[in-house]
This record gives sequence, structure tokens and C-alpha cells, in this order.
Amino acid sequence: MSDLSPGRFMIGPDSRPAFTRYARLHEDRARGRSVALAPERAYELDPIGVIVLSALDGRISVRDLSAQLAEKYAAPVEVIARDVTTLLQGLADKRLLREGPDPFSAPARSLFSRSITRHDGGPAGLLAELTHRCPLQCPYCSNPLELERASAELTAEEWGETFRQAASIGALQLHLSGGEPTARRDLEDILAYAVEAGLYTNLITSAVLLTKDRLARLADIGLDHVQVSIQDIVADNADRISAYDGGVAKKYDVARWTREFGLGLTINAPMHRQNIAHLPQIIDFAVEVDAQRIEIAHIQYYAWAELNRAALIPTRETFMETVEVVEAAKKRLLGVLNFDFVIHDHYASRPKTCTGGWGQSILAVTPSGKALPCHAAQTLPGLIFENVRDKPLGDIWRDGAAFNAYRGIGWMKEPCRSCDRREIDFGGCRCQAMAVSGDPAATDPACALSPDHARFAAFAETESQAPAPAFIYRRYGGASMT
Ligand code: SF4
Ligand code: FES
Repeated sequence: MSDLSPGRFMIGPDSRPAFTRYARLHEDRARGRSVALAPERAYELDPIGVIVLSALDGRISVRDLSAQLAEKYAAPVEVIARDVTTLLQGLADKRLLREGPDPFSAPARSLFSRSITRHDGGPAGLLAELTHRCPLQCPYCSNPLELERASAELTAEEWGETFRQAASIGALQLHLSGGEPTARRDLEDILAYAVEAGLYTNLITSAVLLTKDRLARLADIGLDHVQVSIQDIVADNADRISAYDGGVAKKYDVARWTREFGLGLTINAPMHRQNIAHLPQIIDFAVEVDAQRIEIAHIQYYAWAELNRAALIPTRETFMETVEVVEAAKKRLLGVLNFDFVIHDHYASRPKTCTGGWGQSILAVTPSGKALPCHAAQTLPGLIFENVRDKPLGDIWRDGAAFNAYRGIGWMKEPCRSCDRREIDFGGCRCQAMAVSGDPAATDPACALSPDHARFAAFAETESQAPAPAFIYRRYGGASMT
């Protein structure tokens, strides 16, 4: 393959790769396997992969490593060299490897995992909503309309216990989110508990409250990855969408400091009608600040976004343009910027596997400790959410009525029940089914087989062509028009 991306790290015989500061080997004891932990991902490794990656120190060349392995396993060196190069190029293209030792190198293997007992079927990730406080007021916020008060928030010690329990049932990734997680004065204490529990830590932030000193402290404690969310890269428009002035300049700063400290960086760009025209500039921004990943996610219409739907839904044509922009950028930026692209549901024909399947992959904990199978689950009627203050997380995950309500396929109605994709997408999103069809057990209306799909697509076409109404901004104590 030709090297289309000038910044791509090409693995050759003389390369001396090492893990970056934000990637590492990890023993996933809950599932009895080894993985490479990386921003938002855990890549499963076979035994040979573990041997190869364990040897990477930024000093040994691919040629010498291949020769050593060929001798040790009495295998042809050309075959070994080819396999090693393929493995390493895949990781280099994800930007998990670098040439030479990283001055910020983390331990090659996480020794602190508490997942000491097997727990197949545990969650891979925990979304910790540390607070609902936030200086921004984005009209598509996924927090509930009833925001939780600071006085009800879990303490740092309670979060620490929650992290230990999450790791013990198999969680690998921890997403420190909100609201704005840096609004917590004790974020350093909370992070220290997470690092001690052996979790891969991901700080999801709007960046506007962070100082360089504070980010340096978080990096020292062991933060792995920062996800900077942006409203737009055109400053006036970003200010208007977030109802906050001066955010863009701050995002540039925090993105640059993140890389200066050797941390992983993702730019998170929720996409909608009011920033969609600037997608090419947003991608350029991610490259300029040396992010390894960008998430371009057409937003989901529940909670605040549902209230603002008519102001946010893009036309089908502009949505299709984003598909083209992303496809072209993926090719152009191979090995430089990795893309997570979430398409727009109204113009889809099959739904996404929302949250990796209900009660199968992630769990969310609200600021006051309610454990949810998805971050928007409180929009569903009739579910009772247990609190981590009252019950062990493993019991809630395994036996909680809310977690079992839509787990697997037993709850499904037609057309999902007899569909051959039912164990692929698990019927799509329960929260969207509720928002549009009024039935949380209905087929996601993003699916063309849903009886509500035509209506779902039609109102998007209509609303997106009409003049956009004013935003209803996210605020404590109810909605406000500005
Ligand atoms: Fe998925 Fe249900 Fe649609 Fe089948 S009918 S593709 S299972 S949402
Ligand atoms: Fe709740 Fe999709 S957002 S299941």
C-alpha cells in the first residue's frame, strides 16, 4: 500500500517501535486474556502478539526482534518478519506506537488490575458522570432534563469504591464525564482511585475550566487520555451553541497541553445542522493539534436534544456530505487520525448497536450513584435504578431489574424477534424507541423494518428544511430560550 499520509509511522526492518504513553499491555483477568489498552478501546491479543508487544522497548529493531523470535520458535525469519510487521503496522496506524522510547512511557504492563476472578459478561467500560454541573449549556446535552444537584454527588471515596468494584467485574475503561468533570475540585483524588484500580482513564471535558497546571497534575497521577469536546471550530458559532464565550481558544490550549504531556487525545465533535458545514475545518483542527482520534457523531435525539430537535436535525443532503468528507479524510489521514463516525439515525436503514447492547458492554453511574444500563436510560418509563451506595455494583449489573429489562433478545417483539440481525444490533436504541414510538420495547425507528421508520424519516426531512427555531439551552431548574 502506498503511504498516502506523510505523517504515518511506517514499520520497516529498521524501525524501533515502542508503546506511546497512552497505550499499554494489560492482563484482563476477568476474561482470561491479554489486551492492548488504548483510547476507548481494548484490542484482544493472541499469545504471539503478547510476546511481540512485550519485547517492544524502542531500542530493539523489527529486524532483530524477528530474528530472535525465528530462532526461538524455529520458524522461517521471513514469515516471522512479515507477521510482526503486519501486527505492528496495525497498531502504528492506530497511533499506539512510536519510534524510539516515549519519554513519558507508562509501565509496559498494568500490574494493578483487581479483576482477579473470572467474570465473563462483565461490563467493558464504566461511564462515571462525576457531576451535572457545567459552565456550558449545549442544547443537545445527553444529561437528563432533571439535573442532579451538587449536594447529592458521590464523594471521591465512594467513586473509588465504585471503580474497584467495576474493575473486579471486568471493566477496563473508565470514562470520567459529567456535566463537566473538572468542575469537581477533588478530581485528582477521584483519578488516583481509578489509576489504583487499574482502569484505563479517559477524561471527557469541554476544556474550558482546565489550567495547564491542573492537567499536568492529572497526567502525573496517571491520566491516560483526554477527550476534548467541541461545539464548533468557528468561534462565534461555538460560543452561540454552548452559550459560553471564548471556548475555542481554550480547546486549542488544552489539546496542545494534552499532547505536550504525552497523553492520548480525541476530539469529540457532535454533529448537527448548526455546525455541519464546518466539518472539514473541525477535522483540520484535530490534525493541527495532533489528536490521534476524532469522534464525529451525529447526535441522538433524546433528553435535551429531543427538545431541540427542530433546531438540530440536518438535511439528508448535508448528512450525506459528511459521509463523503469522512470517507475521503479517512484515506488521506491513514495512520495520522483515526475516525469514529456515528451516522445520522433518521437517514439510516438499520440501527446502531446502541451502548454495545443493553446491559452487555457499559454501565453508567450518575453523580448521585444511580447505576444505569445507558446514560439516557432515565427517559424510559417503569425502570427502577439501584444505587451504588446501597448495593454492590456486581449485583446491580447481574441481577438489577433495569439491567435485565432489555438485556439479550428475550424481550423483543416483531420484527426484531425473528430478524437475523437481532443479536447484532439488539433491536437498536431503547431510548430512541421510547422517544419516537412511545414503547421502549419497540424496534428502533432508525430501522427500515420498524412501522415508525417512514414517519421518523419524514419528520426529519420536514424539520430540517424549515427555519431553525431558537435553542432551548440546558440549564438547572428547567429550560430557557435565548
Ligand atoms: Fe435490528 Fe430489529 Fe431492525 Fe432487525 S428488525 S435490523 S433486529 S432493529
Ligand atoms: Fe439508551 Fe440507546 S441511548 S439505549
